[in-house]
Amino acid sequence: MRTPFVAGNWKMNKTIAEARALVSEMAPELQEIRGVEKVLCPPFTALFAVSSLLIGTDIGLGAQDMYWEEKGAFTGQVSPLMVRELCRYVIIGHSERRAYFGETDASVNRKVAAAQAFDLIPIVCVGETLSEYESGQTAEVVARQVREGLKGLPAEFGSRIVIAYEPVWAIGTGKASSGENANAVVRDIIRPALAELFDPQTAQATRVLYGGSVTAANAAEFFQQPEIDGALVGGASLKAGEFVAIVKAAAG
Ligand code: PGA
Repeated sequence: MRTPFVAGNWKMNKTIAEARALVSEMAPELQEIRGVEKVLCPPFTALFAVSSLLIGTDIGLGAQDMYWEEKGAFTGQVSPLMVRELCRYVIIGHSERRAYFGETDASVNRKVAAAQAFDLIPIVCVGETLSEYESGQTAEVVARQVREGLKGLPAEFGSRIVIAYEPVWAIGTGKASSGENANAVVRDIIRPALAELFDPQTAQATRVLYGGSVTAANAAEFFQQPEIDGALVGGASLKAGEFVAIVKAAAG
């Protein structure tokens, strides 16, 4: 059985003071929800403050990106060693990083390998753009992102990776995929790609999330799908009530 997983991607939102206020509001309620792995991914500047508020809770902390080198002359970058001081999780290959900051399947692959080396759990994002969707390239694009992003890793690590299927046309648009469509992509494209890369058991053991305009109102539609193991939540993770309701829906 795959444990449900819900992560909040705060993106470039919340000062330290705002982050503290949001965590103080949601943590007590999140703590009471059992049977779901819960993760908050604030911006780098708020990680330290949030980490101290999460001590003694079962709420995990994640970074939104990282570089693959451990240290050195890489101005502006944050290393896996630094992330590991505070976090257990790291989002890698989010579509906004691919679209605006030059992230490629090759850089995703180096970052996932660095996550393994530093014992971090990567949340690897894949998903097709609107034009790829409209021209029927979803299967080809998503399979390539999984294959290229995760190649060369051992199967033992494969089952610890969390994959987020986030169709780019659904992110921040209020136009979520249907549960059925997302389930079909996971079943027909993502798990077969994992089986080919690793083995069928690993493909079944790996958690695959849906992301893209998930709200408290539509979360259950995704969580009732057999192939979807949780959600990567953007906008709705910035509202305590919404995020708590989504995590509750994942608990069933
Ligand atoms: P959204 O973002 O929930 O605001 O659509 C999801 C994501 O980008 O992870």
